[in-house]
Order: sequence, then structure tokens, then C-alpha cells
Amino acid sequence: MARDIDPMPQSYEYDVLIIGSGAAGLTVALNLPAHLSVCVISKADISSGATLWAQGGIAAVLDAADSVEEHIQDTLRAGGGLCHEDAVRFTVEHSKESIDWLIDSGVNFTREDDSEQYHLTREGGHSRRRIIHSADATGKAVSTTLAEQAASRPNIDLKPNRVAVDLITNGKLSLPGNRCVGAYILNLADNHVELFRARFTVIATGGASKAYRYTTNPDGASGDGIAMAWRAGCRVANMEFNQFHPTCLYHPHAKSFLITEAVRGEGGILTLPDGSRFMDRFDDRAELAPRDIVARAIDHEMKRLGADHLYLDISHKPTEFIRHHFPTIYEKCLEYGIDITRDPIPVVPAAHYTCGGIVSDERARTDVNQLYVVGEAGFTGLHGANRMASNSLLECLVYGRAAAADITRRESDIPAPPSAPDWDESQVRDSDEDVVISHNWDELRHFMWDYVGIVRTTKRLQRAKHRVDLLHREISEFYSNYRVSNDLIELRNLVTVSDLIICSAMQRRESRGLHYTLDHPGLLHDAGDTLLVPTTYRTQSP
Ligand code: FAD
Ligand code: SIN
Repeated sequence: MARDIDPMPQSYEYDVLIIGSGAAGLTVALNLPAHLSVCVISKADISSGATLWAQGGIAAVLDAADSVEEHIQDTLRAGGGLCHEDAVRFTVEHSKESIDWLIDSGVNFTREDDSEQYHLTREGGHSRRRIIHSADATGKAVSTTLAEQAASRPNIDLKPNRVAVDLITNGKLSLPGNRCVGAYILNLADNHVELFRARFTVIATGGASKAYRYTTNPDGASGDGIAMAWRAGCRVANMEFNQFHPTCLYHPHAKSFLITEAVRGEGGILTLPDGSRFMDRFDDRAELAPRDIVARAIDHEMKRLGADHLYLDISHKPTEFIRHHFPTIYEKCLEYGIDITRDPIPVVPAAHYTCGGIVSDERARTDVNQLYVVGEAGFTGLHGANRMASNSLLECLVYGRAAAADITRRESDIPAPPSAPDWDESQVRDSDEDVVISHNWDELRHFMWDYVGIVRTTKRLQRAKHRVDLLHREISEFYSNYRVSNDLIELRNLVTVSDLIICSAMQRRESRGLHYTLDHPGLLHDAGDTLLVPTTYRTQSP
């Protein structure tokens, strides 16, 4: 087990430090051998993060009528020509064994009525029913089961309410000798920054959709891992492809509540305020077109009509069917006075998923030695310009297991981490101006929504770049002078990640997948990934 180095104790040493306790982080932890000491940290509860909120399910080839090749082709099609075929193939080929592992771990998936067969639902972009799910609360089933398993393992320390501030490396940006030796971590219980050293560090911090004013994501989705890895010398890719989910509940008191795509998969239709259907005017697949197309169509119709929301209607299905398949959504909507068995559901698009992230390979290794990334924080090449529904939990599982296998293979060759300095607070004081943080937080999320949202223009991106540069300077100064807090850490990371999104969007001079700009509406013949390199790339304007 870990050794407490300091009497306080403020320093720890582990074999493996995992930052993040969602599906990705816990999959790594549970697939490591029992002789390795493992620490999993999490900003809030161990079950915090987007995983807990996942509704629809997990895509995998489980039906005899389906095939690996069809899942691959659907993913490539949804990804708008930018998926890395090797990553897609690797993920899909390992889909069944990953689901089997979840079932063996105790996750209870929904079965067909009166049968032992698992019920498979459908979502946008999938040509077949291939989404295994636990009613409409798949994430809860996965998250609670994996957290329970992790809590029962003597070699795994679960440390909630701790926020990673920065990674510790021993080298210069992008040099081959740059090794990660752990992280500085703020303990929210006593507001002290602790030193965690480890032979291997895994980033599993989830996405960055909190950069946008409206999002389906939980509060902690501030792109911390992506920003920390960028500062430590990792390349990031395709940050312009932020996915907007077409159907977030629209209600003044509902904060970030998703209406799963499976509602459309089971026959739900999108309607205008007058009740008429419109998706068939935009795509032959209508409601089951990939998300980028559906979100843009809703945005277009809302702007054309001056409407602040549209509707999703499943009320034509039998009441029992609706309540059986969508119990969480049924109950939640009822709390707001909407009976989905009778009424259409008011919906708007909202920021949902970060397709880009820290560049990694098939073993989940990053550009920095002994630093891995798994889950939404990473960029494996699987999603291309648009993630297909329910491929994300699958990616967490497949690459989480791949990372654990690689660490297991290498662990005997990797020595203990070298010493590292304690966090130095001698030059900072307590903030007396927290309004700077709350004001800048709001400003950032507003201009990201208005200027870097579903439909972009060069002028809007330039405006956003100008503002993000100002925020960068202000927050850097604040960070140098004041003691860190959770809000400050998140804002500092959100500013960095927003800058990476804007810079990536400015580089892409075409409209592809989730990046749509009125100034370059066509497709380039020869398009590739947008790769940002920390040693050479200036995110700050001169
Ligand atoms: P998360 O589950 O987000 O976990 C991140 C972890 O990192 C948390 O423990 C958090 O506390 C921790 N963390 C973050 N920053 C720090 C820090 N600085 N220090 C310490 N800890 C930190 N995908 C599907 O495939 N199917 C679905 O049905 C589906 N439905 C979804 C529904 C909703 C409402 C949302 C928001 C997403 C959905 N997704 C779905 C996407 C999917 O849930 C996520 O992509 C996936 O769960 C990400 O898992 P993760 O482990 O990478 O990160
Ligand atoms: C949903 O249930 O609609 C979300 C699925 C996903 O994001 O993959």
C-alpha cells in the first residue's frame, strides 16, 4: 500500500495514480494486478463525473445479426472522414469482451421481456440495434458497480474531494526524457495542496463541455486533465469538435438534464411548436441522423422561427412502454409538470462531449513518459469529426483495459518516482476578490456559447480569441498571487481549454462534422486532424 511520507500526511507515493473516478479511471484501477498500489482521486464523490449521468447505453457488437464490420462502418460514417480506422477497429473488436467484463463485474443490464436476452436499443448513426443499457440510467449502473468493486480491493485507495492542480514532470516540454512523476493535489477538506508521486500517472478527468453556457455535463467537466497535460508538454488534437447533444430538457428550473437519444431510437419524433415534424427535410435518416446533423437542424429551425426550444414527442407510444424504458426521464419530467406519456418534451441542444483531447496511442500512452490518458480527456482517433452515440463509454472501457495491460507489462522496468519539491505557497495569499473568478467564469461560458457554438464564423472566432487572451492574462496573474481553490483551478483550466478549442476552430477552414462555419461551408478534399503542439504553438496572441 501507499506510504505516507510526511507526518501531516501531505505526501504520498503509489505505483499508479489515477486522476478521475469515472468509467475510464475505475476501469484502469480494476484491471491492474493486486500487487500494485493504486490511488484513484476524484474532485467530489467517487461517483461524480459524466459517467454517473450517462443514459442511453454502450455500443457493442452483441447481436448475431450485427457485425464488427457494420459497427466500424457506422462509426467511420458518423466521424465525417476523420476517424482513425485502426482506432475504430481496435475499439469495436474489443467491444464484446469489455461488455462481458462489465457483466462479470456485476452491472445489471436490461433484458428483453420474458427472456434472458439483453435488450438492445438504437441511437443516431447506428444502422442496427446495438446499444446495451440499464433502462435509461446506464451510467448509474456502471458507476456504482465499479465504485463498489474498487472500494472492496485492498490495493486501491479511493480519495474523493481532491482536485489535481498540475502534473509534475522532470523534463522540458516534449523532450524524450520528459517523465511524469505524479501531481500536486488540492485536498478540499483542509485546502492544502498535497504531493502525490507515482511510477505511473493516468489522466481520466473527463471532458470540457463546461466551457459552454448550456451543457448536459456535471459541474466538474472543466477540461482539467487536458489543460494539465498541455502544460506538461502533451499534444492535443481536434478540440474544435465539441459535440452538442440535440435534446437537453428545456425548463427554467432544470439544470443540465439530458433526454436520451434512445427516445428517438424507440420512435420519438422532433417537432416544431406547431406540432409538425421537420427532421425528414434535413436528412433521410430523420431523427436518427448523427448528432451533428440533428443539432444543427434544431438550431436552424429555432433561429428561423425565433423559438427558444422545440419538442421531442414519444407520447404516441404505449404508456407502459414509455415508463418501462425511460423511468428516470418520466419521473424527472413529471417533477417539472411534463407527463411524457401525454405531452411533447421541450428540448434544446447543449454542449455534451469533447471529441478532441490529449493525443494517445493504442496503449493509452501520451507524449510524456509514464503518463497515460483514458476516456473523454483523450484523443485516440476513434470519434473523428463527430462521435457516434454510445461509443464513448465503450472507449473508456477498451482503452482503460489497454492502459492497465500496458502498465502491467511495463511495471517491473519502471523505477520508483524521483523526489519532487513540495507545493510552495510562500508567495501567495488568500484571495479577497473572488468576484473576479465568478465574473470571468460567466463571461467565458457566454462568449464560448455565442461565438464558438453550433454555427461559427471567422469573425466570431476572432472575437472569442481576443476575449480569451484577456482572460488568460487576468487569470494567470490571479493564479500567481492567490492561494488555489477549486473554482480558480477550474477557471484556469477552462480558459486554457477554451483557447485550444478556439485556436483549433480557427485552423479548420472547412465545415466538417461538429465544426460548421458560415465562412467555409464546404469540405476540403484533403483534410486531417488539427494537432496543437505545446512547444511550438502559441495560444496567446502576440
Ligand atoms: P467522467 O465520468 O466525466 O469522470 C471524470 C472524473 O474525473 C470524475 O471522477 C471527476 O471528479 C474527476 N476529475 C476531473 N477533474 C479532476 C481534477 N482536476 N482532479 C481530480 N479529479 C478530477 N456516453 C455513452 O457512451 N453512452 C451514453 O449513454 C452516454 N450518456 C451521457 C449522458 C450525459 C448526460 C452525459 C453528460 C454524457 C453521456 N455520455 C454517454 C458520455 C459519457 O458519459 C462520458 O464521455 C464518459 O462517462 C466519460 O467518462 P470518463 O471516465 O472519461 O470521465
Ligand atoms: C444519450 O443517451 O443520448 C447519450 C448517449 C451518448 O452521449 O453517447
